[in-house]
Amino acid sequence: MQNKRIDPKLAIDGGKAVRTKPFPSRKLFGQEEKAVVLALFDEAIESGHQILGYNGLQEEAYCKEFADFLGGGFADGVNSGTNAVYVALRALEPAPGSEVIVPAISDPGGVMPAALCGCIPVPADTCEDYYTIGAKQIEEKITDKTSAIIVAHIAGIPADMDPIMELATSKGIPVVEDCAQIHGARYKGRMVGTLGTISSFSLMFGKHHATGGQGGMVFTKDEELYWKVRRYADRGKPFGLESAPNGNVVAALNCNMDELHAAIGRVQLKKLPDITVRRRKIAKTIAERCRQELKSVRLKEEPADCEGVYWFLLFAYDQKLLKISKEDFVKAVAAEGLPVGSSYKHVPVRMEWMTNFKAQQNPPIVDDSRYELVNVDKVDDKYFNCALHEDYSQKELDDIIEALKKVEQAYLK
Ligand SMILES: Cc1ncc(COP(=O)(O)O)c(C=O)c1O
Repeated sequence: MQNKRIDPKLAIDGGKAVRTKPFPSRKLFGQEEKAVVLALFDEAIESGHQILGYNGLQEEAYCKEFADFLGGGFADGVNSGTNAVYVALRALEPAPGSEVIVPAISDPGGVMPAALCGCIPVPADTCEDYYTIGAKQIEEKITDKTSAIIVAHIAGIPADMDPIMELATSKGIPVVEDCAQIHGARYKGRMVGTLGTISSFSLMFGKHHATGGQGGMVFTKDEELYWKVRRYADRGKPFGLESAPNGNVVAALNCNMDELHAAIGRVQLKKLPDITVRRRKIAKTIAERCRQELKSVRLKEEPADCEGVYWFLLFAYDQKLLKISKEDFVKAVAAEGLPVGSSYKHVPVRMEWMTNFKAQQNPPIVDDSRYELVNVDKVDDKYFNCALHEDYSQKELDDIIEALKKVEQAYLK
């Protein structure tokens, strides 16, 4: 039954939209973050000391707390998620010219580091029903030149890591888990980010866990690898080495996290468990209401033995039940005031930079068959997305369901 206050005429056809007020913005930072930043400034002004850009006490404490959050290990703060992937990959020391298997769908920042490490990014296709890559798709792309695999957990739903790690371990290939969209999730009881050889996190403002405008973290349980991370994150300074008589030991960029970001991250980390619980609660309620109240739309959920954290909502759309295309359906839902998008098809290897990269190789990469991706397009046809954050109230939840119901009723076959 349609709610009585809802105008049955679609907003796209001139009716009254379900939601006329914009969705609320996220209240990520509060007085506590402001206080720790001001305290650092007060101390610097009073003492005449600088706010450090590397190896400061805030960063040291934050990295320890972050590693503890993941159950123990070693973490190093960096200045973006892109640089976290870059540093993680460089620490694995893939041979120049070797191949790195990259996710078909990800942010370019999760793929470009392979090229910047002097390697050839080779995409694994997505799974058949989801945006992450799987063991089968990875195996199809492994050759004797493969030096590393990057797996991105998209939308806050964990990739199926056990078969991926089994395959990678059997071939002796290290795995970077790109956790930019999945802080605080669990895979079969284990923290996501502890499953691969090394993991990277984006801590930019749009993520569940953030250190300010930009930020990143690299995590590993392997101490030797951690010291390499430190060296590759900071111009090859000889961290963890007993002696380095001739100075810096590898050429690397300066990817350091500074004290201001670390101090914010420490406050934010305490809030992360609550943020993930709230997001999950909203997502689970929406999933249940879709099952109860809608026919053609379902929320994509994590497998039953995992705990996703829902960076955004991914809705599966059943074309067979509806008279219009997914794009038109999403346009109608957007006109009802929902923050929806019809596609999350970010395919970095199809972008201009990759065409240029391939042309610049010696010899140029012309055999494109390894870059053909089949599932990516099929998967993307199945889903549309909706923004989500932990500050959504019952009102936002109701409006999401009401708008979907209204559009569905107008277009059901
Ligand atoms: C999967 C993935 N990897 C890497 C990145 C890059 O992170 P950043 O924007 O912090 O550089 C992002 C950013 O959204 C991402 O979603």
